[in-house]
Amino acid sequence: MIVAIDGPSGAGKSTVAKAVARKLGFSCLDTGAMYRAIAWKALDTGVDLSDEEALGKLADECKIAFEHDEGDPIARRVLIDGEDVTAAIRTAEIDKAVSPVSATPAVRAALLVQQQRIGSEGNFVVEGRDIGTTVFPDAACKVFLTASPEERAHRRVRQNVDRDLGSIDYEEVLADIIRRDKVDSSREVSPLKPADDAHHLDSTDCYIEEIIDQICAMARAAQAQAQG
Ligand code: DC
Repeated sequence: MIVAIDGPSGAGKSTVAKAVARKLGFSCLDTGAMYRAIAWKALDTGVDLSDEEALGKLADECKIAFEHDEGDPIARRVLIDGEDVTAAIRTAEIDKAVSPVSATPAVRAALLVQQQRIGSEGNFVVEGRDIGTTVFPDAACKVFLTASPEERAHRRVRQNVDRDLGSIDYEEVLADIIRRDKVDSSREVSPLKPADDAHHLDSTDCYIEEIIDQICAMARAAQAQAQG
């Protein structure tokens, strides 16, 4: 069974997806990490981010893997062609590079195949932008998680401090979030938009635990219904 969690960056998808997966005993797939890994590889190998053909070839040929601690459904490491890029894909440089990479149709086509293959291997909580619309349109439970751009920018600033990554300017972060939302929602292939049958949840003024509990309840209800 698939629980699809889509929404813009900073809405809390990762935290929510991991917690829901742990509570349900599902595995968890972060599709954004796959786009980030391709963006990292493109920068590392000097591929021009406007060269669609080269990016598509790269996405076709690269092997992305998630490593787990034994018994833990949440991946601790992301590898591309055997190289650990877990930390390297979370930099501001990758934040910028990943938008053109994820807007490239050939990259999306290559990763779609990989995401569907991974998801077919069991029960998964899958987070991304187009999971409920394109990757798993038949997902039993679909959630579109949002929060206001201002709240998402505040969270990002706090997260950087918590992770000892130094302080970042709130206004710059806010501008970047608004820019990325626009790029993600207006691209031609798989734009960020809710599936018609998605449950809309807004985490702006909500405790994240409430969102997690709501999604678990919806997923259990969908599972019960599927089992008749
Ligand atoms: O969730 P994230 O911020 O790690 O995602 C990184 C980028 O990848 C972001 O620009 C949106 C894009 N993305 C996408 O286009 N489709 C997905 N299913 C997941 C992420």
